[in-house]
Amino acid sequence: MPVKIFDTTLRDGEQSPGVSLSVKEKVEIAKQLAKLEVDIIEAGFPIASPGDFKAVKEIAQEVSGPVIAGLARATKGDIDRAWEALQEAKKPRIHTFIATSPVHMEYKLQKDPNEVLDAAVKAVKYAKSYTADVEFSAEDAFRSDKDFLCDIFEAVIEAGATTINIPDTVGYATPEEFGGLISYIKNNVSNIDDAIISVHCHNDLGLAVANSLAAVENGAQQVECAVNGVGERAGNTALEEIALTLNTRHDYFTNQTTLKLKEIARTSRLVSHLTGMPIQPNKAIVGKNAFAHESGIHQDGVIKERTTYEIMDAQTIGLKENKIVLGKHSGRHAFKDKMEELGYKLKEEELNSAFKRFKDLADKKKEFTSLDLEAIMEDEISQV
Ligand code: KIV
Ligand code: ZN
Repeated sequence: MPVKIFDTTLRDGEQSPGVSLSVKEKVEIAKQLAKLEVDIIEAGFPIASPGDFKAVKEIAQEVSGPVIAGLARATKGDIDRAWEALQEAKKPRIHTFIATSPVHMEYKLQKDPNEVLDAAVKAVKYAKSYTADVEFSAEDAFRSDKDFLCDIFEAVIEAGATTINIPDTVGYATPEEFGGLISYIKNNVSNIDDAIISVHCHNDLGLAVANSLAAVENGAQQVECAVNGVGERAGNTALEEIALTLNTRHDYFTNQTTLKLKEIARTSRLVSHLTGMPIQPNKAIVGKNAFAHESGIHQDGVIKERTTYEIMDAQTIGLKENKIVLGKHSGRHAFKDKMEELGYKLKEEELNSAFKRFKDLADKKKEFTSLDLEAIMEDEISQV
């Protein structure tokens, strides 16, 4: 069965410090997520603000294809508001949550475990009175007692939850531990086959993608993630990294996603532009250097056979091609190719002389544009 992609760019992603999207921008991103063919779009947290409510409502009205989810705490008021926003969606989902870790129950909720379990069951039953598709999240699941987690998941599935989500809310887990937790839940919740197992990992230690993949290996069927890995604090699992890992390593992972991967680059650029969050150049998959080669040895290899130094094809994610970047480590082969691309057919001595000039300059300059290379050639011509 394919791994479901639950995109939370518009909800957890918008919780990135400093990010605030307008309703119009959220609808634009949701339409692009539908083109990418994500399975679920978490459009927002309707009770959080009038703007969030409006965005979820407009996305529910205008965006078709994916399931549209709205977040709600385990209270009647939140669930009513979520439903008010979602009711016109073709495929609505109410996503309700409550914290289950000792520290959250004691200090934040001031409830004991029985009260939390009771609130979770009541919330799921109430959400069920609106829609068949109900997801329940045990916030801070990774730092919760395993057996309490199993009890609460069993009870909410019994109450009608169709997806149970296991978040590592504070990004504390390591892959082996997180995979182990998924396996434990799978083996100790008697009615687990009646629900989809989902995971939601944060990236505080840079392990969100690795933890999500470990979860998939241990039976998770849905991954919650955000484009460019945006989200609260250090962010969420990066959608593009999960998708391309499952796809590129189809020899290793049994299940892939059904995303239209060619839309990845466009989606990433749109989210970066509208959130105002730049993408680091060496960011996996979508950074500007992710398909760029600078060293002569690598360039020579890639020109002869792409797979010498590339495990993915840039076109898979909707880029035109990989990039040969001329810099001080570049070799004659790449230099000659680039010159030919610019329309210069060089004889052997011309190439030698121009390449020497380029290498002298390359020690002082980080990257060469077509204009720089044309300037080298102009100099060459004027010396003759
Ligand atoms: O990180 C978290 O636990 C969440 C839940 C609301 C799913 O974002
Ligand atoms: Zn989260």
